[in-house]
Amino acid sequence: MFSKSLAWSLLALVSVTGTVASTHADLFDFEKQQLDPVSVAGSTIRFEKGSAPANTTLPTCKAFPGHLDWPRDNTWHELGTFLNGTLLRPVPVSSVCYNGTAYSNYDAAACANITTSWGTTFVRMDHPIEPVAPMFEGLTCVPPGSGPTYNNNTCTQGGYPVYVVNASTAAHIQAAVNFARNENVRLVIKNTGHDLMGKSLGAGSLSVWTHGLNNIEIIANYSIDGYSGPAFHVGAAVQANDLLKAAADNKLMAVTGICDSVGIPGGYTQGGGHSPLGALYGMGADQVLSLQVVTADGEFRTASPTENTDLFWAIRGGGGSTFGVVTSMILKAYPDATTTVATFDWGVRESNISRETYWKGTASYFGHFANFTGQGLSGQFFLYPQEGRPQGADPNAQPRTSIAPLFGVGKTLAQLKQAVQPWIDEMAGLGIQMNTTWAEFPSYYPAYYSQLAPTSLGVMPYNMTYGSRLLSRASLDSQSGLNATMAAFRALAEQGHMFNGFQLAPTLETGKPVGPDGNAVLPAWRDALSHTIVFALWPEDYSPAQQMAFRNDFATGSRGMQLLRDATPGSGSYMSEADRLEPNLQEAFFGNNYPRLLAIKRKYDPHGVFFASTGVGSEFWKVHSVDDLPTENGQLCRV
Ligand SMILES: Cc1cc2nc3c(=O)[nH]c(=O)nc-3n(C[C@H](O)[C@H](O)[C@H](O)COP(=O)(O)OP(=O)(O)OC[C@H]3O[C@@H](n4cnc5c(N)ncnc54)[C@H](O)[C@@H]3O)c2cc1C
Ligand SMILES: *[C@@H]1O[C@H](CO)[C@@H](O)[C@H](O)[C@H]1NC(C)=O
Ligand SMILES: *[C@@H]1O[C@H](CO)[C@@H](O)[C@H](O)[C@H]1NC(C)=O
Ligand SMILES: *[C@@H]1O[C@H](CO)[C@@H](O)[C@H](O)[C@H]1NC(C)=O
Ligand SMILES: *[C@@H]1O[C@H](CO)[C@@H](O)[C@H](O)[C@H]1NC(C)=O
Ligand SMILES: *[C@@H]1O[C@H](CO)[C@@H](O)[C@H](O)[C@H]1NC(C)=O
Ligand SMILES: *[C@@H]1O[C@H](CO)[C@@H](O)[C@H](O)[C@H]1NC(C)=O
Ligand SMILES: *[C@@H]1O[C@H](CO)[C@@H](O)[C@H](O)[C@H]1NC(C)=O
Ligand SMILES: *[C@@H]1O[C@H](CO)[C@@H](O)[C@H](O)[C@H]1NC(C)=O
Ligand SMILES: *[C@@H]1O[C@H](CO)[C@@H](O)[C@H](O)[C@H]1NC(C)=O
Ligand SMILES: *[C@@H]1O[C@H](CO)[C@@H](O)[C@H](O)[C@H]1NC(C)=O
Ligand SMILES: *[C@@H]1O[C@H](CO)[C@@H](O)[C@H](O)[C@H]1NC(C)=O
Ligand SMILES: *[C@@H]1O[C@H](CO)[C@@H](O)[C@H](O)[C@H]1NC(C)=O
Repeated sequence: MFSKSLAWSLLALVSVTGTVASTHADLFDFEKQQLDPVSVAGSTIRFEKGSAPANTTLPTCKAFPGHLDWPRDNTWHELGTFLNGTLLRPVPVSSVCYNGTAYSNYDAAACANITTSWGTTFVRMDHPIEPVAPMFEGLTCVPPGSGPTYNNNTCTQGGYPVYVVNASTAAHIQAAVNFARNENVRLVIKNTGHDLMGKSLGAGSLSVWTHGLNNIEIIANYSIDGYSGPAFHVGAAVQANDLLKAAADNKLMAVTGICDSVGIPGGYTQGGGHSPLGALYGMGADQVLSLQVVTADGEFRTASPTENTDLFWAIRGGGGSTFGVVTSMILKAYPDATTTVATFDWGVRESNISRETYWKGTASYFGHFANFTGQGLSGQFFLYPQEGRPQGADPNAQPRTSIAPLFGVGKTLAQLKQAVQPWIDEMAGLGIQMNTTWAEFPSYYPAYYSQLAPTSLGVMPYNMTYGSRLLSRASLDSQSGLNATMAAFRALAEQGHMFNGFQLAPTLETGKPVGPDGNAVLPAWRDALSHTIVFALWPEDYSPAQQMAFRNDFATGSRGMQLLRDATPGSGSYMSEADRLEPNLQEAFFGNNYPRLLAIKRKYDPHGVFFASTGVGSEFWKVHSVDDLPTENGQLCRV
């Protein structure tokens, strides 16, 4: 309960001015608007005082709508009043399709609209709660006919957050964090909603929506321990497209992923972040020079090579929604460069080759990853078990490999051709004529967009899962390792699985993270030459029990991802593009960083304010989901 009402809302902000230290960029204006602890003392948005709580005094479950412990309407109303209208109570967009729901907003024309745009053009990142992968919400409100009738032909709030703070100042975020902690409400963070494991969702939650914090500032020469040079200062919302554009306008390059609508400072950078610049400059997390974050106690903090160094280490690779709400980051920038891109395709049918020859060619390609990355080349590849029907086992599958594209950043056309000619000769020696394209660009930006289309992002299929594996150097750069890896690929492809993977070698030498002890990026990345995702689809009429049987078989059965684990012993899986059912996921996603990450999590978040399924500390919690599916559709409780 608020102990004081509107009177304090006018006094509750303190304006922070000036820079923190000479090596720091100024805070953004939105970060200077902070909560004043004195003014909010005694209210539901008071700061935490005193030492960490004893485990035994912590509630077993988060509060839940309809239960006695859920804050009363007038408590939410007071929060909304304080937040000046930025507290939203959004409804699922597809609710207009259902008559007779609690939303009472049935509208056939609006439903026709959302049904048409749902899979292709509906912009999820501009919506406070809609995610790219609604499967993790629980599919409780999708347009009729867009998939299985799993939702019993109705519409409920399911795994969607109940309230959302449309944050435009640090104070909004501090208020949300303090309220969630004091009122025992589940807190989630959403920027774009690209999360592929449901981590920007949560039933019965208050969400911090960061999508408005999109400031970008270019710092011509930024200096901090371990780095001196150009940098970007980016707000929490900045997406790859805006950063790439700002970089190009200033003759610079930025590390981003291949999807230009992914948010940079959220899940991408905090989870690791692979990039077309990965063979040259390492991971997204390696780019961070300093950051600002609201921690679970409501404090606004700087984490850098000299301040809160444990937090600085953990946030760079330890995963989003775990240690705090990042409000901005300072990232390395690189001088722009001539960039050449090439694409290569070969397939059994298209190239008129036998299956044996096809797999020899594919092995030849993967066998060159060490050489290619050693020359600074990154790339993306696809393996299609059968053209036109990429998933579903088919004994007559016609496998095809597509490299789309290979990036030669800093290379002219002649230099890229020279770099890959030995491999092309090897393919020709096998009798494989590839379809090949080449294009040189004066800078990185047009090269990137010549290959990677701007994305508004559709919706992930409801009947699809994916697992991933980092392919270690030993698994590709030795004949026996390569044989074992290709045997695993072939066994998976022949069951109808499609692959999408990346070639990069983000070693500590290429990444050069600042700070006394590097960062929390999964150590297996440092020895990897590829991150490879394998997709699996089940028939859409499967019951929840059949889905779980299928998914468990793919995740842990001997004919699923275990084939790749066996071929890459000691490696890991990329936490941001992975399976929620990954076995021993603390080891797979965090490696031997896990104990330290968990200790830092406990230090900064003793109440468990932040939670992300599969994240650090998630093993102490369980979402009691409908039908026990791996979704966010249920109450969050300690185990
Ligand atoms: C089409 C597509 C292509 C992709 N390509 C790549 C790629 O090339 N390289 C790559 O590495 N990854 C890639 N990804 C994966 C991507 O990095 C993750 O989905 C990532 O989590 C998205 O981050 P986001 O902040 O945009 O999404 P969101 O769903 O908004 O957030 C993701 C996670 O980060 C948390 N979070 C968001 N903002 C903050 C914040 N300010 N502070 C703390 N936590 C926060 C959220 O709570 C959530 O847990 C791709 C994903 C998709 C859907
Ligand atoms: C809470 O329990 C964990 C183990 O489950 C323990 O490591 C930690 O120290 C405990 N914290 C407190 C404050 O008792
Ligand atoms: C709400 O608006 C008032 C009047 O503009 C302003 O003084 C106050 O700081 C705002 N509160 C927050 C939390 O932004
Ligand atoms: C909604 O359902 C009610 C009760 O079944 C019905 O009377 C009403 O006509 C329906 N409205 C629309 C717009 O279909
Ligand atoms: C349908 O969508 C278009 C474009 O988003 C919008 O202009 C229009 O108002 C919508 N119509 C309805 C009935 O919602
Ligand atoms: C749909 O209804 C069935 C039968 O009542 C129930 O078992 C199932 O849990 C419901 N599904 C959802 C998603 O609510
Ligand atoms: C969120 O806030 C921004 C201003 O910060 C505003 O432009 C936008 O319309 C708001 N969005 C919603 C859905 O209220
Ligand atoms: C950047 O600043 C550092 C430290 O102040 C200085 O040594 C360096 O020469 C500067 N570089 C440029 C290009 O100005
Ligand atoms: C190569 O290009 C030709 C002509 O465009 C096309 O028919 C064939 O399918 C392509 N092959 C592959 C493997 O892409
Ligand atoms: C495919 O290759 C076989 C032998 O290698 C040859 O006989 C046949 O003509 C080729 N077909 C095409 C369409 O090139
Ligand atoms: C790549 O292979 C070529 C030819 O085999 C060799 O000359 C070159 O040194 C290799 N480069 C690296 C970085 O492995
Ligand atoms: C790898 O497999 C090839 C046949 O595909 C075989 O000739 C070769 O001996 C194998 N090498 C090793 C080290 O297992
Ligand atoms: C997955 O669902 C889609 C439609 O949503 C369907 O076209 C496809 O055939 C399904 N996959 C399998 C393997 O059944």
